[in-house]
Amino acid sequence: MVSKAESPPAADPGLTSGVDLGQAYRDSNIDALLDELDRELVGLKPVKTRIREIAALLLVAKLRETQGLTTDRPTLHMSFTGRPGTGKTTVAMRMAKILNHLGYVRKGHLVVATRDDLVGQYVGHTAPKTKEVIKRAMGGVLFIDEAYYLYRPENERDYGPEAIEMLLQVMENNRDDLVVVLAGYKDRMDTFFHSNPGFHSRVAHHLDFPDYETDELMGIAELMLASQHYEFDGTARRAFREYLERRMTMPHFANARSVRNAIDRAKLRQANRLVKKGGTVARGELTRIDADDIRQSRVFADDGEDSTDTPHRGGKDAV
Ligand SMILES: Nc1ncnc2c1ncn2[C@@H]1O[C@H](COP(=O)(O)OP(=O)(O)O)[C@@H](O)[C@H]1O
Ligand SMILES: [Mg+2]
Repeated sequence: MVSKAESPPAADPGLTSGVDLGQAYRDSNIDALLDELDRELVGLKPVKTRIREIAALLLVAKLRETQGLTTDRPTLHMSFTGRPGTGKTTVAMRMAKILNHLGYVRKGHLVVATRDDLVGQYVGHTAPKTKEVIKRAMGGVLFIDEAYYLYRPENERDYGPEAIEMLLQVMENNRDDLVVVLAGYKDRMDTFFHSNPGFHSRVAHHLDFPDYETDELMGIAELMLASQHYEFDGTARRAFREYLERRMTMPHFANARSVRNAIDRAKLRQANRLVKKGGTVARGELTRIDADDIRQSRVFADDGEDSTDTPHRGGKDAV
């Protein structure tokens, strides 16, 4: 294909007319979205930097398009790798909005799918399932969580390849209206890309989501609480840090998701504490999480004997 870049507009070499990049930037309202991302998500520095870079690239690509400098749309499919609860889904949702504001997808919504949503159990079930998901995702971002489960070479009669074939096709042919994000653990994703070079060649941006540090998890906890009109008192803050330090070494620790779960349970305990106490409850008491609301967690149980409910048995977060 001959791109227009090889034949620039004859009348104007582009140096005199030009385009107002600042104006385009303001019009896209992209700054507000990027600032929101910075503010509302703790840490993730490398991810945030990459997103700013991608946004700049896409903005310039749009301007180049208006100047007839290219006919090739940039490839937008991405891979988000990292352990559970590192913010992949959350960032994908924001990425969908950013792409929408930059004029790359019509609607800017996010559709999350796993293998079970795409692959059927019987002959003839996979195509309609995959088609339905793709249809729902059109105009937005399709986030395929743990994408490597689509490919199970050990199962001879597996329908995963059917879904893979359809996805590859739509990633190629509907690039202007659907962005696919493949997500999962880094090592398994690497293996998956290795066995499925078709996917690898269609993914332009690989973003890696690191585990959070304790301080970042504390920041995430405070942010989650504040957004729900709760707050730790001084002793609860210390207790929660201790909780995290213990929880992080236990099985099934899932970064920010474990923080969310721990906060949900602290809220439950706070409510029960208040109900037990009865009488008039001051407004401040309704928002305050105290140390006891945290320390009642099993994570603080030292015996290690009674493990009926501990994370490694239940596969869930410690209560
Ligand atoms: N950096 C962050 N700052 C604030 N909240 C976060 C951050 N990362 C994740 N969360 C929250 O943690 C939870 C799990 O995040 P999620 O995006 O579902 O992780 P993943 O998709 O990687 O498993 C969500 O409630 C999300 O809002
Ligand atoms: Mg997720």
